[in-house]
Amino acid sequence: MPSTPTHKTLSTGAKIPLIANGTWDWDAASRERGKEWIAGALKMGYRHIDTALIYGMEKAVGDAIKLSGVDRKDIWITTKLPWNHHSRVFESIDESLANLGIDSVDLYLMHWPHFVRYDPDDFLPKNPDGSYAVVDSPTFVEVWADMEKVLEMGKAKAIGVCNFSVKNLEILLKHVKVVPAVNQVEMHPYLAQKDLKAYCKEKGIAIEAYTPSGLQQVRNDPTIVDIAKKHGVTPNQVALAWNLARDVIIVPKSASEERQRENLFLPTLDEEDLQRIDGLDRYQRVCPGNFPDENGIVMGWPMEKLGW
Ligand SMILES: NC(=O)c1ccc[n+]([C@@H]2O[C@H](COP(=O)([O-])OP(=O)(O)OC[C@H]3O[C@@H](n4cnc5c(N)ncnc54)[C@H](OP(=O)(O)O)[C@@H]3O)[C@@H](O)[C@H]2O)c1
Repeated sequence: MPSTPTHKTLSTGAKIPLIANGTWDWDAASRERGKEWIAGALKMGYRHIDTALIYGMEKAVGDAIKLSGVDRKDIWITTKLPWNHHSRVFESIDESLANLGIDSVDLYLMHWPHFVRYDPDDFLPKNPDGSYAVVDSPTFVEVWADMEKVLEMGKAKAIGVCNFSVKNLEILLKHVKVVPAVNQVEMHPYLAQKDLKAYCKEKGIAIEAYTPSGLQQVRNDPTIVDIAKKHGVTPNQVALAWNLARDVIIVPKSASEERQRENLFLPTLDEEDLQRIDGLDRYQRVCPGNFPDENGIVMGWPMEKLGW
């Protein structure tokens, strides 16, 4: 079994496995083989799968659960409301549940705080002038109210958000009946986000780290490589172990059996290691989807509106 502790208790009281296997894959051929590598992860011992309607992987997750032979009730399944489904939350959760072949998800996340026009053929439509077709209404506050109804209906056991900054959480929290159980954000040694982490802790919102390895940028960092050598592990494992030591749930993704194993069985870092890694923080995003374009726009919103 993975190193202790294995679970974190959310504000709902549910115990979420600390290590997920993500399901977004930039490689289309690998996505085609999703059922096999997700089932492989479940057979290896993963009990937490992170997916999203927009990844096109929910059917593969549903098929993988059946193929793995692991009981559905023993698996934590997270999926997400896409950024073009703001006006169709109820249709969207039903579509996700049908894809997954289950009655409810363990966690339903709003994928981004901003929304674009619904176009069934294009997840990120543009206006004629080339700008993203962002819509101002409904707002994330209004969409959250629909997500609270999804919770009431029992179609999700917990609800949360992704990519929310302190700025946007402050706006949201003024209006909620249910505080998000989770905020899933990019987090790794080059993007420690201490302020966001402290704010979420104060509000009882658990942090999930996506791109928790920091990709090649962090894996090749001399300090990370040095600590990996010291423990006889890989740099990827060091970055993941650092996240876990900070009480953060991690969502690494691997389609390879060998790397899935690495990511599930992590070393325990000592205080000196953790301090050295803390010193690498530089507020640098590495997830390719999160780079601003030449106008400072990320997925349709300016950095300032995202609170980045
Ligand atoms: N909420 C959001 O907006 C959002 C955004 C991005 C991602 N996510 C979620 O987070 C998950 C993980 O994100 P990510 O893919 O950026 O994170 P990551 O796990 O930090 O990076 C994955 C990449 O690293 C490789 N890799 C995995 N384990 C490795 C290891 N032990 N050694 C060396 N390379 C390794 C993978 O290739 P192989 O598969 O070939 O091993 C893949 O190319 C996604 O799948 C998705 O579920 C959410």
